[in-house]
Amino acid sequence: MQARMMNGDQGRKMQSKPWSLKILHFFLIFLVFGLGLCIVSMNMVRYFGARNMFHQQVFGYRHCVEETRSLESWIRPPCNVMHDMNDTELFWRATFAPRIKEYPYKRVTKVAFLFLTRGPLPLAPLWERFFKGNQGLYSIYIHSLPGYRANYSRSSVFYSRQIRSQEVEWGKMSMCDAERRLLANAMLDLSNEHFVLLSEACIPLRNFTIVYRYISKSRYSFMGSYDDRGPYGRGRYDKNMEPEVSLKQWRKGAQWFEVNRELAIRIVEDNRYYPKFKQFCKPACYVDEHYFPTMLTIETPHLIANRTLTYTDWSRGGPHPATFGRNDISKELIERIMGRRMCFYNHRLVYLCQLFARKFAPSALQPLLRLSSEMFGY
Ligand SMILES: *[C@@H]1O[C@H](CO)[C@@H](O)[C@H](O)[C@H]1NC(C)=O
Ligand SMILES: *[C@@H]1O[C@H](CO)[C@@H](O)[C@H](O)[C@H]1NC(C)=O
Ligand SMILES: *[C@@H]1O[C@H](CO)[C@@H](O)[C@H](O)[C@H]1NC(C)=O
Ligand SMILES: *[C@@H]1O[C@H](CO)[C@@H](O)[C@H](O)[C@H]1NC(C)=O
Repeated sequence: MQARMMNGDQGRKMQSKPWSLKILHFFLIFLVFGLGLCIVSMNMVRYFGARNMFHQQVFGYRHCVEETRSLESWIRPPCNVMHDMNDTELFWRATFAPRIKEYPYKRVTKVAFLFLTRGPLPLAPLWERFFKGNQGLYSIYIHSLPGYRANYSRSSVFYSRQIRSQEVEWGKMSMCDAERRLLANAMLDLSNEHFVLLSEACIPLRNFTIVYRYISKSRYSFMGSYDDRGPYGRGRYDKNMEPEVSLKQWRKGAQWFEVNRELAIRIVEDNRYYPKFKQFCKPACYVDEHYFPTMLTIETPHLIANRTLTYTDWSRGGPHPATFGRNDISKELIERIMGRRMCFYNHRLVYLCQLFARKFAPSALQPLLRLSSEMFGY
């Protein structure tokens, strides 16, 4: 009875409160509750967050479930050549190298074919023949001008092998940048041990078996490098390059090279010679003919063969070599290109000196396909 009365009393009192006070009351309760929740959750975040950081730093522990790291997961090539690293990040990552030289697994080395192109690869069908049946022994990377959209079928060896590319200008440092970018992308696959730079106008002169063996059994990398005392050699040297590069050290060589992994790392990591060449070798100094040959001759002369594997016909004179089109292709021309010259291979004089040739126009494709099996062995 009393309780009911009191209730009733309070009820009356409550009812007698004005609306504005009631709202204020609710608001205050809300505010206190909200503030409390806020403080508790902030502390929880701080506490658990710190613990998380602590765990990450001390135990390398992360809040995610990952597959157990097997050796396989470290050596498996990336399944996609696309990534979102910029050059700085890519070059840094690409130059990781094991200090223990003996691999704890059977490493089948691959030859990486790096195509530096404007866009399409008109001679692709010839290369498809060349690569056929040799899966696992090669990998392909293509640098084309940024606007170009490649359109290869899924069954093509060139399908989805385009790397993140940038603008390239003939004879300028952006050309060497593209070459380093190609190298660095290929280096992400630990099986790649040899790196061959090619253009869309190159063809292979021998079958894959011979090319693979020739490159992987060589004690030296095939970087062309010679001392040209004329205006197109020493004449392009700028004294400002001292002390990094002296006139006596200045070299010239064909752009199209083959290097092994050790030299590829040196090329990608270089920041000693790069600024000098970028600043003091501008057209008519064609930096792609001097930078890598000079740098490697100074740093690792004992590792380069000083000759290129790519045949180029300079006999017509001028700054550009001869280009062979449909009407030039004949057995005689191929024989002349493959002709019996002599060179040193692992200190022995041999007749096989060149594995690739350029430049071939798109119109040369059909006649080359007709001759490839007989002349090139693929
Ligand atoms: C790549 O990105 C990093 C981090 O944003 C930046 O410091 C670096 O300068 C970038 N490099 C290039 C070549 O853009
Ligand atoms: C891509 O190739 C296919 C078949 O080869 C062709 O039908 C298609 O038109 C091509 N697309 C472009 C954008 O070139
Ligand atoms: C590659 O060419 C060589 C010499 O021409 C030949 O002996 C060999 O059988 C060829 N290999 C293949 C896989 O066709
Ligand atoms: C290449 O040239 C350098 C000097 O320019 C020399 O030391 C080296 O022995 C040469 N390499 C070969 C394989 O002859």
